[in-house]
Amino acid sequence: MPKPWTTNEIRQTFLDFFKKHHHAIVASSSLVPSNDPTLLFVNAGMVQFKDVFLGVESRSYTRAATVQKCMRVSGKHNDLENVGPSPRHHTFFEMLGNFSFGDYFKKEAIPMAYDLMVNGYGLDPARLYYTIYPDDQESFDIWSKDLGINPDRIFRMEGNFWRMADVGPCGPNSEIIYDRGPEGCTCGDPNCSIELDNDCDRWLEVWNLVFMQFSQEASGEMTPLPKPGVDTGMGLERLVSVIQDKPDNYQTDLFTPIFEKLKALLGHTDEHFAEHLVGYRVIADHTRAATFLIADGVLPGNVGRDYVLRLILRRALRYGKMIGFTGPFIAEVARVVIEQMGGHYTELRERADFIIAALQREEAAFQQTLDRGIMLLDELIGDLRKRGSTVIPGERAFQLYSTFGFPYDLINDVAKEHGLTIDRQAYDRAMLEEKTRSKAASSFNVDTWIEHYRRMASELPTSEFLGYDYEHLREVPVQVLAIIDPETGERLEQGAEGSAIDLLLNRTPFYAESGGQVADTGVIETEYGRAIVEDVQKPIPNVIVHRARIVSGTIRRGENARATVDVERRWDVMRNHTATHLLHRALRTVLGEHAQQRGSLVAPGYLRFDFNHLQKLTDEELAAIEREVNEHILNDLPVGADETSLDEARQRGAMMLFGEKYGDTVRMVSIDDQPQAQRVYSRELCGGTHVRQTGQIGPMLITNEQSISQGVRRIVALTGHAAEEYIASQKQLLQAIGRQLGVQEPEKIKERVEQLQEERNQLARQLQALQSELLRKQLETALKDAQQVDNISVLAVQVNAGNVEQMREMSDWLRDKLGTAFVVLGAVLNGKVLLTAAATRDVVARGISAGKVVQQIAKIVGGSGGGRPDFAQAGGPDAPKLPEALAKVAALVEEQVGSASRVS
Ligand code: SER
Repeated sequence: MPKPWTTNEIRQTFLDFFKKHHHAIVASSSLVPSNDPTLLFVNAGMVQFKDVFLGVESRSYTRAATVQKCMRVSGKHNDLENVGPSPRHHTFFEMLGNFSFGDYFKKEAIPMAYDLMVNGYGLDPARLYYTIYPDDQESFDIWSKDLGINPDRIFRMEGNFWRMADVGPCGPNSEIIYDRGPEGCTCGDPNCSIELDNDCDRWLEVWNLVFMQFSQEASGEMTPLPKPGVDTGMGLERLVSVIQDKPDNYQTDLFTPIFEKLKALLGHTDEHFAEHLVGYRVIADHTRAATFLIADGVLPGNVGRDYVLRLILRRALRYGKMIGFTGPFIAEVARVVIEQMGGHYTELRERADFIIAALQREEAAFQQTLDRGIMLLDELIGDLRKRGSTVIPGERAFQLYSTFGFPYDLINDVAKEHGLTIDRQAYDRAMLEEKTRSKAASSFNVDTWIEHYRRMASELPTSEFLGYDYEHLREVPVQVLAIIDPETGERLEQGAEGSAIDLLLNRTPFYAESGGQVADTGVIETEYGRAIVEDVQKPIPNVIVHRARIVSGTIRRGENARATVDVERRWDVMRNHTATHLLHRALRTVLGEHAQQRGSLVAPGYLRFDFNHLQKLTDEELAAIEREVNEHILNDLPVGADETSLDEARQRGAMMLFGEKYGDTVRMVSIDDQPQAQRVYSRELCGGTHVRQTGQIGPMLITNEQSISQGVRRIVALTGHAAEEYIASQKQLLQAIGRQLGVQEPEKIKERVEQLQEERNQLARQLQALQSELLRKQLETALKDAQQVDNISVLAVQVNAGNVEQMREMSDWLRDKLGTAFVVLGAVLNGKVLLTAAATRDVVARGISAGKVVQQIAKIVGGSGGGRPDFAQAGGPDAPKLPEALAKVAALVEEQVGSASRVS
């Protein structure tokens, strides 16, 4: 009987077992692959070792074991749609794996796996079966002869060949299958067996041992790997379900705490839970995935990884609604995940606040669109039903996406539930049309320019970049290897004065724009010609193109030349680049490790840096960041660059950017904190150019901080000359203000301004008192103009007032003074007429209505209005007619008195 182990014990036992067998225990890599453009997310334990298998990278060990965070939601291994209905599918999961890089092979891998399963985890051998690739006799012999397993338990299966993706390492595999017994059968086939290979839940593929032997090329060819190796993978969730003897993964201690939380939040009983099982599973799975993704720097968005995160979050939120949530819940669920998994994956605890805040934001944003979107989708589905159609028109689906942010897969999900499909082609067409519209002609030129170069790639000379060396920026002897017409891509023999040309040199001090750093500018001179370099680009790797304009003479292919970079400008750029690294480090120190780089521009005049962070930075945070950077500038730390392997850089803690492709050899820029003690302050992979010592940067000043998209903020900062100029101009400004205020020392300005404010307030108070006095006088004079109409004092005058409120106060005052009264005030404000009318209660009782009077006179000024019998207001555009309108009041009152008495 298996022991009732916890997940944590199962994880640890795996690592301990392989440690005992001399494996290096390697930490899980981020879910975002750091150097693999073929893959959206890490989807297997071997991903971080891909290049080691391919033989392009080597490590200090030849055996390793890991527990790897994995996601399978896109590409070759996509489990999204199964998550929920299936008892054993997940988007996020943990994979236990052991690896051999040219070290051991089948003969050791198979017995080790068996030993751990049977003796380590105590699984019953009577429940275990094995599959192998049909012609893998060696594995068959190891299972049957070396381990003495009955050949009846070993199955030869065509599908036992594992590929990471369409390209990459691959090889035959052997699997260990766990038999859940006849009661676990879900296929219902009377001949249910492993050989049917029909995905029946009875036969659980627990451990996959891949014998890496080939590399799958994009051409379709398979080439043998330099050294065959072993890559094994075992889904932790599934293993736990077997060891804990649970019928499905979701009943293990990995998920039950999440379900308990959901039940408590919803007030659900076990019956409710059973009824909404699919929703519970979707929410639990997707929240785990979202929590881990955000910790690894992914934020909900509309492209790539960000889109996937948004998609799964929205799927979870939609299910949340279906199972009974009416308010936000996802953050509460994430807290359970952080609590439960944060011991092993410390990044969850470190970034907990950020994760929670990011989830809350996305949930709030989606809530607004969800209700309307779902309503529209339901309507649409109802419509289709009536018409007997089963296909949602692509344009309509796209509209839901573009207007309500409903991801395609989410619409598809809902469609499927109703037995409908979406016209995908029409959807794609609509998407394409919109893209073309929004892009317009904007990037046409750049694209065609790069295309020219791609086509010529094989004929183009490459150039050596000399510009990391500060001594080789001026008058560098070079040779012109090619001249190209930038418009047509045509190869030229020469360029004449006034023309724009692309120049390719054998070597160059000019830095080509990349990694956010702008290109160098400068001049290239030959004996007979001089060209100004305006831009430098690398359209294809190692081909450096100088976009230049010939300002005098002629430049010919093959000539010797001298290249000179604008060194002052280059130094300003270098200051900003090194400052960018300091800023990146400081942001993570002050705000937290989540504040990772999202974008960067390093120009001569300023630097711009985009990073993950949800809130506006406070003044205190900005000041702390500025202080942290300037402190490390003042300490004049050495800046160094090493070329090294990607693996070593990773081991030495270099910061790498998500989505960035790094070659096998990378350049690592380090700023050492205490050179003697070899403590590294900042270390990033970077191809850019930097100062030698941080002291050369000069002051760093943050001049702006703002949001640029959800969860991404931008800082603009100045260094060196630009910072000095900024300080000087601020100083001048202060001096000028001081002079204007009549104070000598700028420190006194604040005091003086406060004094002036106080004086101003005093004056304002005096002014107000005078105005009230004036107003009272104005009103007292007005009182005299009251006419008597049938014992009612009727007053209609023009006053100076700033708003209706003031007019109301005036008319209240006048009404109280006059006793039985009807008061109409008119004022002209911004060229328009405002009218108020007020009647005392006894006047109203006599059937006179302020509302009616105002209605009548408003017409005269071309407007309208109305209100209650005791107070009404109106407006109109025709200011010159105001006196005429006021003059009409007495007659109207008289008329109303007359008609009222006739009625009574
Ligand atoms: N790469 C294989 C898998 O993912 C074994 O680790 O199944």
